[in-house]
Amino acid sequence: MRILVTGASGLLGRKVFTQLKLKDYQVFGTCGTKPISGLLHVDLTLPKTLGAIIHKIRPTALIHCAAMTDVNACEENVDLARSINVEATATLSRICKKMDIYMVYVSSDYVFSGYNSPYIESDQADPINVYGRTKREGEEAVTAAGVFASIVRPTIMDGYNGPEDKFTFTRDLLRNLKETPNSVVLDNCRKKYPILIDDVAENIELLINQRRTGIFHFSSKAPVTRYEWGLIVGSTFGFAEEQIRPDDNIDIHRFPPRPVDVKLVDTQMGFNFREVQSLVSIIKQQIERRQ
Ligand SMILES: NC(=O)c1ccc[n+]([C@@H]2O[C@H](COP(=O)([O-])OP(=O)(O)OC[C@H]3O[C@@H](n4cnc5c(N)ncnc54)[C@H](OP(=O)(O)O)[C@@H]3O)[C@@H](O)[C@H]2O)c1
Repeated sequence: MRILVTGASGLLGRKVFTQLKLKDYQVFGTCGTKPISGLLHVDLTLPKTLGAIIHKIRPTALIHCAAMTDVNACEENVDLARSINVEATATLSRICKKMDIYMVYVSSDYVFSGYNSPYIESDQADPINVYGRTKREGEEAVTAAGVFASIVRPTIMDGYNGPEDKFTFTRDLLRNLKETPNSVVLDNCRKKYPILIDDVAENIELLINQRRTGIFHFSSKAPVTRYEWGLIVGSTFGFAEEQIRPDDNIDIHRFPPRPVDVKLVDTQMGFNFREVQSLVSIIKQQIERRQ
């Protein structure tokens, strides 16, 4: 099977790309501004380049991981967010439909406000910020194109490919614990359901192999606040508990709004996602292996 991964220079895309490459697939990947050897450069804001790449590769399946993911940046540049997250997704969906390519669109739990948790796949989306709205419009574009596709909604992802990765929760916290050891304060109000990119990649592969269509929720089951998650990271990496303090009065109305508790329920597949302690231990092993 020939698989094209967009955003293969990003956190999830890189993991999907490398995990699939280790198996019996022919895998191709795109990057944007971050040139990485072996990846094809593409600008998602230029629809013609997307068509050219897909015609050249002629994949059987396309995994669309690329997106504008910075919530603040999306709020500040709505047109660019819409161009990358909605218009490029619409273009890719139409091309896939025309060329009979199976598509996986990576959406987000941010399509929900978090006011009405828990959410099953068919619940009405009600995003509360630009990022979430553009991800929802991306989903609508996939559906409107009538392409043979699955839409996956992951919760917050953590993981490790290498030092070139963007800073995820774990690596950001480790950096802060080293640089400002006694002033690390973490949100103890919002609930998160972190998942490991390795598990996301594996479950995307499952969807491709089973040619599933529809919406799929990717989430761990037990909620943690960033503070609780941070304590697990701290103890796993050998930091003292006192180095991390909870913020119990976080301003949840700070702009741009972020959902307080999006609990996603998977009624479709019974996916397996590691819980947070195991997720952090795997990241530690992966970081140590690269040192
Ligand atoms: N991270 C999370 O916690 C999370 C949670 C839920 C859903 N998601 C979704 O999961 C997917 C992957 O997220 P991620 O965190 O792995 O993303 P990421 O690390 O921010 O990477 C984004 C990818 O998109 C590419 N890209 C962005 N703008 C582009 C453009 N104009 N032209 C071409 N490529 C462009 C980037 O390329 P360059 O870096 O080379 O420019 C990069 O490869 C996204 O769809 C995101 O919405 C993420």
